[in-house]
Amino acid sequence: MKCDVLTLFPDIINAYLNESILKRAQEKNLLEVRVYNIRDFASGRHKIVDDYPFGGGPGMVMKPEPLFKAVEHLRQDGQQRRIILLSPQGTPFTQSLAESFSREQHRLVFICGRYEGVDERVKSSLADEEVSAGDYVLTGGELAALTVIDASARLIPGALGDDRSAEEESFSWGLLDYPHYTRPREFRGMKVPEVLVSGNHKEIWLWRRKEALRKTLKIRPDLIERIGLTDVDKKLISEIKGEH
Ligand code: ADE
Repeated sequence: MKCDVLTLFPDIINAYLNESILKRAQEKNLLEVRVYNIRDFASGRHKIVDDYPFGGGPGMVMKPEPLFKAVEHLRQDGQQRRIILLSPQGTPFTQSLAESFSREQHRLVFICGRYEGVDERVKSSLADEEVSAGDYVLTGGELAALTVIDASARLIPGALGDDRSAEEESFSWGLLDYPHYTRPREFRGMKVPEVLVSGNHKEIWLWRRKEALRKTLKIRPDLIERIGLTDVDKKLISEIKGEH
């Protein structure tokens, strides 16, 4: 996965990328991220990147010119690019979008907006798509870009220490995660479920699937509607419902 990040705050992006799994993914050449300061593409002595909104109103709007110039600079290398503007008006980011980004052959360009917004011509004529980290407003697109890069990069085969980790995650089932336990087997009177220490892998799988279904039914029933339930799932759900 190859990315370019356009931001007014490169340090925010670099600080996160230079730790832990994403750092190792870059060292293993599974992930490449180049970070650019949008201000470097602004003209004039003052390198102004924002201006007042036409029509009035509070706040500032990011000017189109530095962003267009930045992307034109990137394009000089001739690589194909998929340009993503992070904004609360975008398509909500999901695990399936993370899978799509992790497999993307084109370079991904993440444009991080700041201030009250970005000139509409960036959305209509520069970006290929707009992606939102969720239904809330951040101070800027940096955390959203990092969210997208993080969730996507960890799906690249080999990025996690153990290749099975990402595949086996309950979220890849389209469900919320099942509970996890580690030692000690009893902590302050709270015991680890017996099945997890039974060594019976079939029973452990069934318990995890049931607990993932239980949690999802309670917190995110909308997710259940999206996945196709198997006969085993239906049986587990009827057991859960029978418990109450
Ligand atoms: N910038 C500000 N809020 C955002 C959000 N929720 N997602 C993506 N970019 C943003």
